Amino acid sequence: MLKKAKILETEFGIEAMQRLDALALFSEGGEGVTRRYATKEHRQAADLIQSWMRDAGMTTRMDAVGNVIGRYEATITNAPALIIGSHQDTVRQGGKYDGAYGIVAPILCINELNNANLRFPFSIEVIAFCDEEGVRFNSTLLGSRAIAGTFDMGGLENSDAIGVTMKEALLEFGTNPDKIPGLARNPKSILAFVEIHIEQGPVLEGQNMAVGVVTAIAGGTRLSAKITGLAGHAGTVPMDSRSDALTAAAEAILTIERYCSQRSGLVGTVGKISASPGAVNVIPGEVVLTVDIRAGDDELRRKAVDDIIPEIKALCQRRGVKLTTETIHESDGCQCAPWLMDQLDAAVIASGHAKKRMMSGAGHDGMAMEHITDIGMLFIRCKGGVSHNPAEAISVEDANTGIQALLNFITNFKTQTQR
Ligand code: GLV
Ligand code: MN
Ligand code: MN
Repeated sequence: MLKKAKILETEFGIEAMQRLDALALFSEGGEGVTRRYATKEHRQAADLIQSWMRDAGMTTRMDAVGNVIGRYEATITNAPALIIGSHQDTVRQGGKYDGAYGIVAPILCINELNNANLRFPFSIEVIAFCDEEGVRFNSTLLGSRAIAGTFDMGGLENSDAIGVTMKEALLEFGTNPDKIPGLARNPKSILAFVEIHIEQGPVLEGQNMAVGVVTAIAGGTRLSAKITGLAGHAGTVPMDSRSDALTAAAEAILTIERYCSQRSGLVGTVGKISASPGAVNVIPGEVVLTVDIRAGDDELRRKAVDDIIPEIKALCQRRGVKLTTETIHESDGCQCAPWLMDQLDAAVIASGHAKKRMMSGAGHDGMAMEHITDIGMLFIRCKGGVSHNPAEAISVEDANTGIQALLNFITNFKTQTQR
């Protein structure tokens, strides 16, 4: 038997926080958590996650792209799986909870089920996806795309900041990238994909709510842009004779800000920029920057990209510099499945909380998993809506509530045909 619902207790929450603190130690250094794909820290986190999975009664393995997969068998052999998971990687100087909470929470649920000797006619797989953020190789959703069969093998030639290709990194990491195409799952082996995640925004906190059920995930486009001017002497070239790539980039960034600020539901960010040659007394000759544009409405986002690129091209022309852009990621928004939303609502209510539905502005692995199965998501409140920041925080009580709701969801899970 399962222990009585721990609605008013924080046992799960306390255990989750301890595990999240332990995972956060695997970081490249500096403030917050930096755990990039196919690094020593990824390996350390994967080992710890696998040990928790084993302790919770799952069989575990790491696949060729670097996902860790734990499987809790059903009462019958070869039963299709309810997949629950999130990503192990972080942004640079991120927090302890983005992704990691969605790995720790389902493992604690399975641990509870295993202790109670409870199994179901469906199997449960917990996946710690290897890379969702796309920090190291500028390509996102790598783990979930491999499982969904949409992994771009051409991306293996992408290099990180020090020139190591993804393929080289994976070989060094100890997996065989040639086997990635074989990771594509047969949709028949999957019942649904569900992820629990911190909200990363202020909505739940603003409404004094602990948990929410996601209705849809906003789509996003990511570009890499290169502005080429002419490097020159900072002391000798008159202001009206310069082809300064960095001042053009500054105007481009403000163009993006202005365009997106004027349209409700649209957000645009330049999160990474580098100028070269990069010296105090040299006019910048080249700038590389990233652009991230998102909206719940795909048309609005596509139009923004179509409008912004020519606008930046024109300002570059006026400034005597050249612009080239490359789309490095494009994902339409995706809808969560109504039948999963209903079951997640019921699980939230059973955990003693009010029903709340909400949109996700952040991207998630569900965007890739949606290609092979129905998806559902549960959000828990985070403090101040802060995320992608070392100050990211959640309360023990909310960590507990999320796990309790997820456990309610699993124990009452009905497949789409059973409903
Ligand atoms: C992932 O966190 C994203 O939304 O970029
Ligand atoms: Mn993130
Ligand atoms: Mn995330």
